[in-house]
Amino acid sequence: MAQETSGRLADRVCVITGAASGIGRATAERFLREGAHVIAADVDAERLATLGGVIPVVGDVSREEDARRMIDTAVERFGRLDVLVANAGVIPLLSVTEAEPSDFDRVMAVDGRGMFLTCKYAIEAMLVSGGGAIVCTSSISGVAGQARQAVYGPAKFVASGLTKHLAVEWAEHGIRVNAVAPGTIETERVAAARIEPGGPEYLTEVVRAHPMRRFGTPRRSPPPSSSSPPTTPPSSPAPSSRSTAATWPTDTGRALAARRARVPRRWSEARRPARHGPAHGRARAGRGSSLPVGAAAGEGRGREARAQQDARAAAAAPR
Ligand SMILES: NC(=O)c1ccc[n+]([C@@H]2O[C@H](COP(=O)([O-])OP(=O)(O)OC[C@H]3O[C@@H](n4cnc5c(N)ncnc54)[C@H](O)[C@@H]3O)[C@@H](O)[C@H]2O)c1
Repeated sequence: MAQETSGRLADRVCVITGAASGIGRATAERFLREGAHVIAADVDAERLATLGGVIPVVGDVSREEDARRMIDTAVERFGRLDVLVANAGVIPLLSVTEAEPSDFDRVMAVDGRGMFLTCKYAIEAMLVSGGGAIVCTSSISGVAGQARQAVYGPAKFVASGLTKHLAVEWAEHGIRVNAVAPGTIETERVAAARIEPGGPEYLTEVVRAHPMRRFGTPRRSPPPSSSSPPTTPPSSPAPSSRSTAATWPTDTGRALAARRARVPRRWSEARRPARHGPAHGRARAGRGSSLPVGAAAGEGRGREARAQQDARAAAAAPR
């Protein structure tokens, strides 16, 4: 099926970091279809070489000289930089007890310092040309707590935080800074977790925490009119050109969903008559659900069965 394009990024000069794979690669491919000039930066030279149509820059975002070169390439080739997508990152899924201090340092160097450096040099360039837009790839882990994210999650809070501070500081100069906060996206990194010890159980738990009960995929996104408002250039007439300092969730509802409590059936049955009375409870719960009234209102047997399945799976999952 032909993919819809808007041409909204026609002739925009865009740097995308972490562009060799996953979300960054899908973004680069999309930007190319939208008519952008794409400078694709990544530490992985081999994979980057397989991405056609871009100007590749091999480098490590955590190194000053490399980060500067990524931005300078845009200015040298096109005379300006319009958009930075600060996306490069590493994603170790470790609990605090499993992690070494060096794991934390590594994530902070790439996801934290790397984002700081590329944003810094991008803003310096945008100040010369009169404005631009930056999108930082944060995460659900940069707006909420999750298990096994003690190493990775704090660096994503850096992304969300840097976004807000830079947006406020540079708004008057025509530079907008927004973040996207994906839930779990089925990239190769996530696929790899499926064969790591405890990975399948962990991913099963994570997908349950997404109200739409599915992960995203890097390429499965609606057209830019709705999907990429943060990248809308400052001169665009689109309403999103007013957007700055925002963290846009692309998480199938995960961030705002309170994790569904697993309520044992016997526990709820014992309490319901005392709190609500049997008739009241059954009427509100509908279709004979035995979940507590508040949790089951408007829900049916399917939900109840899933809750029981979840409780069994949770009991079996490694802690
Ligand atoms: N996959 C998810 O579920 C998910 C969810 C939320 C946020 N994110 C974020 O999205 C971004 C991309 O993740 P992804 O899932 O596409 O991962 P990925 O591993 O597929 O892609 C990351 C890319 O960054 C590159 N990279 C790593 N270290 C680098 C460095 N020092 N300098 C330059 N490039 C470097 C890698 O070579 C790779 O090409 C990350 O910032 C990640 O935190 C991912």
